[in-house]
Amino acid sequence: MEKQYPPKSQPSAKRTPSANEHSDSPSLPNGSAPLLDQIPAYLQIRQQLSYLDVLGVDNPFDRVHEDLSVDCVTVNGRRCINFAGYNYLGLSGHPEVSAAAKAAIDRYGTAASGSRMIAGQTPLHLELEHEIAATLGVDDCLVFTGGHSTNVDTIGHLFGRKDLLVHDSLVHQSMVGGCQLAGGRRMHFPHNNWEALDQILTDNRRKYRYALVLVEGVYSTEGDIAELPKLISIKKRHNAFLFVDEAHSFGVLGERGFGVVEHFGLDPNDVELWMGTLSKTMASCGGYIAGKAGMVGYLRLSVPGSVFASLMSPPNAAAALSALRVMKAEPERVARLRARSRLFLELARAHNLTTGTSHDSPIVPVITGDPVLAVQLSGELLKKGIAVQPMVHPAVDHSASRLRFFINTLHSEEQIRIAVDAVTRLKSELRPSRPDMALADNL
Ligand SMILES: Cc1ncc(COP(=O)(O)O)c(C=O)c1O
Repeated sequence: MEKQYPPKSQPSAKRTPSANEHSDSPSLPNGSAPLLDQIPAYLQIRQQLSYLDVLGVDNPFDRVHEDLSVDCVTVNGRRCINFAGYNYLGLSGHPEVSAAAKAAIDRYGTAASGSRMIAGQTPLHLELEHEIAATLGVDDCLVFTGGHSTNVDTIGHLFGRKDLLVHDSLVHQSMVGGCQLAGGRRMHFPHNNWEALDQILTDNRRKYRYALVLVEGVYSTEGDIAELPKLISIKKRHNAFLFVDEAHSFGVLGERGFGVVEHFGLDPNDVELWMGTLSKTMASCGGYIAGKAGMVGYLRLSVPGSVFASLMSPPNAAAALSALRVMKAEPERVARLRARSRLFLELARAHNLTTGTSHDSPIVPVITGDPVLAVQLSGELLKKGIAVQPMVHPAVDHSASRLRFFINTLHSEEQIRIAVDAVTRLKSELRPSRPDMALADNL
């Protein structure tokens, strides 16, 4: 289904191949139970893990964070400066937010006990939806239990086989999954290349019923920003819908953290589908879709992830609502996040680290271009008390392997200097040892 435009090499959209989609998957004997070790995706993961053993590096995706994820965190028993979490405004762990969640437990318990249609909704859920919509400047909002499922459910539900779904090559796997569920024609354009998007729509729009353009406010791999003013004018010209995932821009961009609309000074009603997660700045778990009353009202009554799934738990709703209110009451958190992010980026650039296109956001990749080096660096940094995760295939292409630093408002300038110095020093010292290139290719 998928076609790249223009046909040149781009980092792949973030996704992990499922067990049944490898072209070389063996067809399993009829009637017999599938054997795990016949599945190539499983074998590949086992091979990757054994390669870590060969390198003598601990699995970076198996670490235990033992306490609150703020400027510091304890990882596998070691106190670290923390760049491995999305607590951008430090609201998870904020006393008011924790107190709100605890009060919700006392009043409503720990579970919603069913979907809205089964077990109703609490005033907290409605207040949260109202407050998100008001903050964004749109009519209405619907919260979901998971951020990832918000994307899959909403896109898969609203669009179908007769539709054209065009996404930036770097959008999150959950958006790609939604497009796949919709079953329409899926195409992608090179990252942030709105001219290519324009061309795709010029060539293809007329063949399809609806067209949907999907982007992120701040891109989670690169830490750069969608060119929303351009995208809005293009989608209007081609009569397409626009879906903006604000997982990493809500609470981050704009003077007050109101997101990409505030950053560019746009009319929020020019975007049909605003999506965000509650698991990052909002110190909770879940997602939302916000926009026009008719569209949100339709989703409320029909989208499977709301109708057939349990509602987010009351303490989660209370935490997100409280976090949103603290964010508004303490705008200095957003300003400090911006200052700290800028400092990190400036220092990294001054040390000749490759930070790609990151700008004006708290996501700063340090691109190693080599998966082994990224994993080794992450392991060595942990030993020095710095927690940062590597990002490797299939999340990004091998050549785009990286460490990904998430800055938060609680980081001190000194912590940032220590981290940039450490990664610079270690990067110059470390040379990836490659006992077996074939295996390295699998990492
Ligand atoms: C851009 C983007 N969208 C959606 C999601 C899924 O959100 P959640 O982790 O809250 O399920 C993520 C997760 O990191 C993300 O980065």
